Amino acid sequence: MEEIKAVILAAGKGTRMKSLKPKVLHEIFAKPLLGWVLDSVSDLPFKNESIAVIGHGAHEVEEYLNKNYKYVKSTVQKQQLGTGHAVSQAVPLLGDYRGNVLILCGDTPLLTTKTLTDLINFHNSEKSDLTVMTTIFDEPFGYGRIIRNSENEVLKIVEEKDATSAQKEIKEVNAGVYCVNWLKIKKAFSELKNNNSQGEYYLTDIIKWARGNNFKVSGYICPDNREIYGINSRQNLAIATKIMKDKKNDELMSQGVTLVDADTIYISPETQIGCDTIIFPNTYIEGKNIIAKNCKIGPMTRLRGNCEVGEGCKIGNFVELKNAKVAKNSNVCHLSYIGDAEIGSNVNIGAGTIFANYNSITKEKKKSKLHNGVSIGSNSVIVAPVEIKENAFIGALSCITKDVEKESLALSRSPQKEVKNWVKNKKEKI
Ligand code: UD1
Ligand code: CA
Repeated sequence: MEEIKAVILAAGKGTRMKSLKPKVLHEIFAKPLLGWVLDSVSDLPFKNESIAVIGHGAHEVEEYLNKNYKYVKSTVQKQQLGTGHAVSQAVPLLGDYRGNVLILCGDTPLLTTKTLTDLINFHNSEKSDLTVMTTIFDEPFGYGRIIRNSENEVLKIVEEKDATSAQKEIKEVNAGVYCVNWLKIKKAFSELKNNNSQGEYYLTDIIKWARGNNFKVSGYICPDNREIYGINSRQNLAIATKIMKDKKNDELMSQGVTLVDADTIYISPETQIGCDTIIFPNTYIEGKNIIAKNCKIGPMTRLRGNCEVGEGCKIGNFVELKNAKVAKNSNVCHLSYIGDAEIGSNVNIGAGTIFANYNSITKEKKKSKLHNGVSIGSNSVIVAPVEIKENAFIGALSCITKDVEKESLALSRSPQKEVKNWVKNKKEKI
């Protein structure tokens, strides 16, 4: 099987974000931009390895990598002298590696594994030494422009800031993704110059370098320009979120899921939903989740990841689920929080039920388990860890802190008191 190594550029400051946080840690569907890029690489159908070039906010980015992507190697670019300089920081880590290297930016979260695979396959079938991914934008402002000759060969890339007004008219742009034969191209990184308007070592100059050294350069045009969308500003971040959401919504509708008002429904690309499930307006689903067929979700429901919802469930308005499994035909219809829980089938959770899963002193989260057929009365609190066995019945307004046996009734509210004629007596005294 082919092997590929990826270098992901993530050292830039992201000045245009006007943020204290490094740009690549800004999130879409609760996952940092860098995470989206790393995942699209790790899902490639080739043996792969990623190297992240970090710099601005290196400490924070490293912390994120250590927590979520332990397998990713990182190298620090102390001064951000440009994208070409950034790649040169990875040269020692790549050493004498003989395969293809994929170079991509940490700020293009919409790139899919399929497109990267197509790029690598194109590079190999063309027997290219350097392939740059391009796309066509009606409004190419801000991107590097692709300069081709009359034979349609890629000659060089000109950055917006260095472009002549004629070059600015070109609509084919640099996606910032490259596949290179490492052994042949690596020398370019010690020969790049910074004689341009920004005084930076541009990665884009490797094209001219490769041609000058008689290596084969190709351009792979990505048919879906939405994938190339790069994040440089908060406006870009909002647009990228919308692109990601619209693509997912479209895919789900094609698979037989009803979205009552797709404009207001946000579903992360990593969520699977079975057919004939209906999603009502203002539903927000982030992270990885599996929702089976024939469910009703929403309106105004939030799933925060790692949730499984079985066939025929109803998860209703103002309900939040996090790290929760709900087996088939169960209902959580109104105003509830279900966190760190396993819920059986045919369970009914009354309105306003809260799973108290978090101890703010110990910072620990604990799990609760409800077996099949359990019924929870409205406004109850289930204090984790507890286990409520088959068909047990919890009276409304109970605070459950101990396990409950099957078929039992558990009640923790105070008994109802009635004072006869209390109102009448009060009024008579006025
Ligand atoms: C870059 C390309 C441009 C392309 C666009 C696609 C260059 C010179 N320009 O422009 O042709 O159309 O991407 O999105 O390559 N970075 C570092 N170290 C640095 C500088 C940047 O790691 O010293 C990283 C940034 O964190 C970012 C990526 O490289 O993830 C791209 O840098 P950015 O400044 O966003 O480049 P663009 O102006 O978008
Ligand atoms: Ca960019």
